[in-house]
Amino acid sequence: MGKLMFHGQSCVEIVAADGTRLLIDPFLTDNPQADVDRGHFHDRLDYLLLTHGHYDHVADAWPLLEETNPTLIASFEIVAYAQEVLGYDKTHPMHIGGGYEFPFGRVKLTPALHGGQVAGKGAEGYTTVPAGLLIDLDGCGIYHAGDTALITDMALLEGQVDVALLPIGDNFTMGPEDAARAVDLIKPRVVIPIHFNTWPLIEQDPESFRARVEPRAEVVVLEPGDTYEF
Ligand code: NI
Ligand code: MN
Repeated sequence: MGKLMFHGQSCVEIVAADGTRLLIDPFLTDNPQADVDRGHFHDRLDYLLLTHGHYDHVADAWPLLEETNPTLIASFEIVAYAQEVLGYDKTHPMHIGGGYEFPFGRVKLTPALHGGQVAGKGAEGYTTVPAGLLIDLDGCGIYHAGDTALITDMALLEGQVDVALLPIGDNFTMGPEDAARAVDLIKPRVVIPIHFNTWPLIEQDPESFRARVEPRAEVVVLEPGDTYEF
C-alpha cells in the first residue's frame, strides 16, 4: 500500500509500498501552512518532481537537490536551469505528452494552462510550459494537476485517474466551480483539493467544494500533515 502526504499549497509527498520516496512541488520554508521543513526529507528522497517553475512550487526544490540528492523529474527547461545554473546533473528531463517508465512506476507530463516563469537565483531567461503529472504507482493512477485553468484536455485523462489532486484556490488557478467541472471531465474515484488557504487571496471552503462534487467522486480533504493511503 502506498501513501500520500499533503504538506500545504501543492506540495505532496508520496511513499510507495517499497519505500521509494517522491516529493512534488516543495514549498515549505516560506509557506505559512507547511507542516514540515526540509529536514523532514533529509533521511531519504529518491525523486523530486516539479509541475512548473513558480516560487510556490520550487522554493525549497533547489536546496533539497543539494541536501538530499534526488533524481529531478521536470520539464526540459527546468532541468536545463538545474544543470546549467545550479550544476545539478542527476536529472530526468521530460515534456508535455511524454511518459517514461521509472523503477517506481510511470510518469507522464500532461497539459496545464498557466504561467511559465522559473523562480530561482540566475533563472532569468528560463521559462517553461507548465505541466500536470500523471503518476502510475502501486496500481494507482495519481493525477497532480499542478497550477492550471479548467481545460477540455482533461477529458483525455478519463479512465486513467484514481486519485486527482486539483487546485481549488481560484485567482491563480481553477476555483471550486471549475475544479468541480474538471472532476466531470476526469472522472476520478477520489479528489483531493490543493492550492488553497495558503494566503487570504486563495481562501476557499473545501466543504463547499465537496458539496459540488459528491457523490460523483469522493472528496478527501487533507490538512497539511494529513496522510491518504491508496
Ligand atoms: Ni503557478
Ligand atoms: Mn501556484
